[in-house]
Amino acid sequence: MRKLKMGIVGLGRLGKKHAENIAFRVPNAELLAVCSIKQEEVDEAQRSWGIKYGYTDFEEMLKNEELEAIFIASSSTEHCKHIEQALNAGFHVFSEKPLGVTKEEVYYITDVIKKHSDKKFMLGFMRRFDPSYIYAKNKIDSGEIGKPMYIRCYSIDPVHAVQGAIAFAEKSGGLFLDMMIHDLDLARWFLESEAKVVFAAGDNYIYPEFGKYEDIDNGAAMIQFENGTIASFFAGRTSVHGYHIETEIIGTKGTLRIGTIPEKNLVTVFNENGAVRECHEGFLERFEAAYLNELQEFVNCVLEDRQPSVGAFEGVKATELAYACKESFRSSELIKINYK
Ligand SMILES: NC(=O)c1ccc[n+]([C@@H]2O[C@H](COP(=O)([O-])OP(=O)(O)OC[C@H]3O[C@@H](n4cnc5c(N)ncnc54)[C@H](O)[C@@H]3O)[C@@H](O)[C@H]2O)c1
Repeated sequence: MRKLKMGIVGLGRLGKKHAENIAFRVPNAELLAVCSIKQEEVDEAQRSWGIKYGYTDFEEMLKNEELEAIFIASSSTEHCKHIEQALNAGFHVFSEKPLGVTKEEVYYITDVIKKHSDKKFMLGFMRRFDPSYIYAKNKIDSGEIGKPMYIRCYSIDPVHAVQGAIAFAEKSGGLFLDMMIHDLDLARWFLESEAKVVFAAGDNYIYPEFGKYEDIDNGAAMIQFENGTIASFFAGRTSVHGYHIETEIIGTKGTLRIGTIPEKNLVTVFNENGAVRECHEGFLERFEAAYLNELQEFVNCVLEDRQPSVGAFEGVKATELAYACKESFRSSELIKINYK
């Protein structure tokens, strides 16, 4: 079997998971090289998984002529630079979300990606590859719930991970761009429409530490789409019960809810607290299948010479929308979105 020879940059919270997936869970992929600015992460990956090449300098990895594709899981502020360097060096590229952390760099990198249209580029909006979301999308597309009138999305990280989020805040782009962007993308995908008007608000209700980076611990947005659908979004970092990702779509003929109770599995624990349904602990657990499916799709696209369905365009539209939320939050004004 032909295997795609891949290198990965970024071996942090999520990069490690992607690296393991490339190395062990996608049969037609091979992890030949790992890169991180943290030497200990490179050593650990090479030692534990037997990876042939290790780098602390990304440009050095790009000189490796055995490689065919680069997976980018570095910090959000590095994505655009790494995408450009990898494409210019002749590689196919998968990049984690977000595409970039400013509108200017997102527009710039889109032009770079267009210039390299002979290479495959995919962006990591992995929720589009989650089996439950795909199931829901098929129901919407088949007309089973009629015309969607309202969509409601919650993405709330567990409070036990908040110190990590504070450490990550400087390079994340902020709550709307870092967290809410997944739901903004999902809404665009479900509705096949662009957002028209946005109002967003939020605060540091518990952790003022986020304020140092002009960020917030919890925020919400109300959006109307061009097709008339109303949408409301809540993103936060302080869920006490677990990782809560919930989506509801109310249509003219029916309603879909995905993840109403973010149940870990089918087990109910009967104890002194009553009948307890435990919840997902974090994104790695909830979206395990989605991370694997998106990677498999990227590898197949390269090997079958197809362009992935989720690329720079989706990154730009979601970024423009997240920025409108950010702008509304800062100004407390209703924002009408002007797309480029
Ligand atoms: N799709 C999702 O569900 C999801 C979930 C979490 C994170 N993410 C995204 O994944 C990316 C990584 O997130 P994380 O939580 O793993 O971050 P992290 O801070 O834990 O890890 C970042 C990694 O990148 C490396 N790195 C940073 N700059 C580098 C450089 N210039 N050269 C080489 N290595 C460099 C660091 O050493 C580290 O290994 C972020 O962009 C984040 O937005 C996506």
